[in-house]
Amino acid sequence: MPSLPQKPVDTEAAPTGAVIDARDLVKRFEGMTAVSEMSLRLGAGEMVGLIGPNGAGKTTLFNLIAGSLTPTSGAIFIAGRDVSQESPEQRIGRGVGRTFQIPRPFLEMTVLENVLSGAQAQDGENLFANFFRPAHVRSQEKAAIDKARTLLEFVTISGLEHQPARVLSGGQRKLLELARILMADPQAILLDEPAAGVNPALLETIMERVLALNAQGKSILLIEHNMDMVSRLCSRVVAMALGRPLAEGTPAEVAGNPDVIEAYLGAMA
Ligand SMILES: Nc1ncnc2c1ncn2[C@@H]1O[C@H](COP(=O)(O)OP(=O)(O)O)[C@@H](O)[C@H]1O
Ligand SMILES: [Mg+2]
Repeated sequence: MPSLPQKPVDTEAAPTGAVIDARDLVKRFEGMTAVSEMSLRLGAGEMVGLIGPNGAGKTTLFNLIAGSLTPTSGAIFIAGRDVSQESPEQRIGRGVGRTFQIPRPFLEMTVLENVLSGAQAQDGENLFANFFRPAHVRSQEKAAIDKARTLLEFVTISGLEHQPARVLSGGQRKLLELARILMADPQAILLDEPAAGVNPALLETIMERVLALNAQGKSILLIEHNMDMVSRLCSRVVAMALGRPLAEGTPAEVAGNPDVIEAYLGAMA
């Protein structure tokens, strides 16, 4: 009998203790540098705020970490492994989930189907195609549906599971997106402005759910302009402007930092 292939020794894993370790990232688009020598670490169980005026490069940094953009230079490590060359799907498989600044659900699919679309197979492949296949995947399918329902309860929109996603409000779409990424059991979660355009009642729900996820041990990187939310959720805040890190510290320290204040005033002018 042939022996099972041996798993190669993992020589790339350098134990830094960080779930996400972005090192010296640079991202140039034609004619402009969106991210420039930006480094950021997210420790296990940490919740870190990422602030900065519009255009600072925050979303671009998320795109580099999640793999939807390739850095011009620099590297991204997930749990000590260099993933700079890996696809977004592979990085989801390694435990990084991200939400988008503007959620883009499948509008004509139901809320439940949208959550199911976040399911990942072991090899990082999306499981969703399986839901249109016959019986041999039924048990997998049932487990996934149960999980999706539990997640919809967790994000408090289970009553809407059979509705098409297009009927959801902006805030409900953010909750739906959160449930979708939780299908893949992320260890680290990148949230891009989860409070933007959300009504106050739903905002409270979103904050509670994010806190609950962090209490379960998930590491969270939070882009947010709502400083009240950042102060309540994050022990550490990183401010960036013009693609670079500007300040780092407690929420109060960073909010009171003259360079940070100037960057926000400069961006408004
Ligand atoms: N795909 C892209 N092509 C060209 N420029 C981009 C692209 N994505 C972002 N940018 C530019 O990079 C800068 C940083 O944008 P972004 O990362 O979205 O900032 P933030 O999220 O902090 O508001 C902006 O000037 C933006 O116009
Ligand atoms: Mg942005």
